[in-house]
Amino acid sequence: METVLSTDKLTKHFGKLCAVNQLDLEVKRGQVFGMLGPNGSGKTTTLGMLMGVVNPSAGSFSWFGEPATHHTRKKIGAVLEHPIFYPYLSGQKNLELNALIKGADPANIAKVLEIVELTARKDDKYQTYSLGMKQRLAIASALVSDPIILILDEPTNGLDPMGIAEIREIIKRIAADGKTIILASHLLDEVQKVCTHFAVLKRGNLMHIGPVDDVGKGEEIVEVQAYHDDLSILLQEFVGSASIKKENGLFEVMMKEGYHAKDLNRFLFDKGIVASHLHTRQKSLEKQFLEILADHKV
Ligand SMILES: Nc1ncnc2c1ncn2[C@@H]1O[C@H](COP(=O)(O)OP(=O)(O)OP(=O)(O)O)[C@@H](O)[C@H]1O
Ligand SMILES: [Mg+2]
Repeated sequence: METVLSTDKLTKHFGKLCAVNQLDLEVKRGQVFGMLGPNGSGKTTTLGMLMGVVNPSAGSFSWFGEPATHHTRKKIGAVLEHPIFYPYLSGQKNLELNALIKGADPANIAKVLEIVELTARKDDKYQTYSLGMKQRLAIASALVSDPIILILDEPTNGLDPMGIAEIREIIKRIAADGKTIILASHLLDEVQKVCTHFAVLKRGNLMHIGPVDDVGKGEEIVEVQAYHDDLSILLQEFVGSASIKKENGLFEVMMKEGYHAKDLNRFLFDKGIVASHLHTRQKSLEKQFLEILADHKV
């Protein structure tokens, strides 16, 4: 698959502070790439460098295999900070002005309004928009020039649960439309819900990079309950159990690689026990993320 972005030891120092340290990233076409990291980990600084608004101290990056130029930047739409819209103008008029500035085809406006679900409110003044609508208009404005890549910095910040869900749906819709998306987030749950790939940053250092799908792989935890006095002893006899814990009246069996709930169920059944509760839980991204951070002391 075509490489859209690659960074080579991309670095930014602010005085003594190293905000981004020798970052090597690769984003391929069609990915929804999450940059996950706590506050101050260097996400915005990285996006700023990629957009040409922050000068790298060292290292380099390329878009579509070429160094960044005015020409490559035209293929990128970004929502970095709150964009400036005219409060007294409608969403539609604001996008028309935007299209004019960017030399974009005004015919795109109707489509992008549809994508961000603002068609019904397009003629209302910007100042009457809710925070979620303002954020959606910002996304629309980044899309108006029909870029190949969309960059979003914390797209759901400050929104309520409804607003967050709407933005996530919109991001998925844009990705389904074939665009490559790079988004910064400090929310594990967000990255897990919308991204296909992700990188984890901590104090400017890359801690992990890979597909989001991999996160669920590895150990499984199976919750089990059955009416049997010696259940805990029996569970220890099961060859697939790595360890057992009792939590809220349920047993949690940490499975060995390659063993699944159905194996445990069959084992119990062979002993004449019928499980009243059997539920597989994957190890969450959060746990992995915390492990990654704990494993790699900077
Ligand atoms: N213009 C600047 N001058 C000095 N230091 C800066 C500047 N911009 C960022 N920093 C510092 O660089 C580090 C990384 O900041 P950055 O904003 O990139 O982090 P972030 O991951 O986007 O954090 P957040 O989740 O809070 O948005 C922080 O320590 C920050 O204080
Ligand atoms: Mg930031």
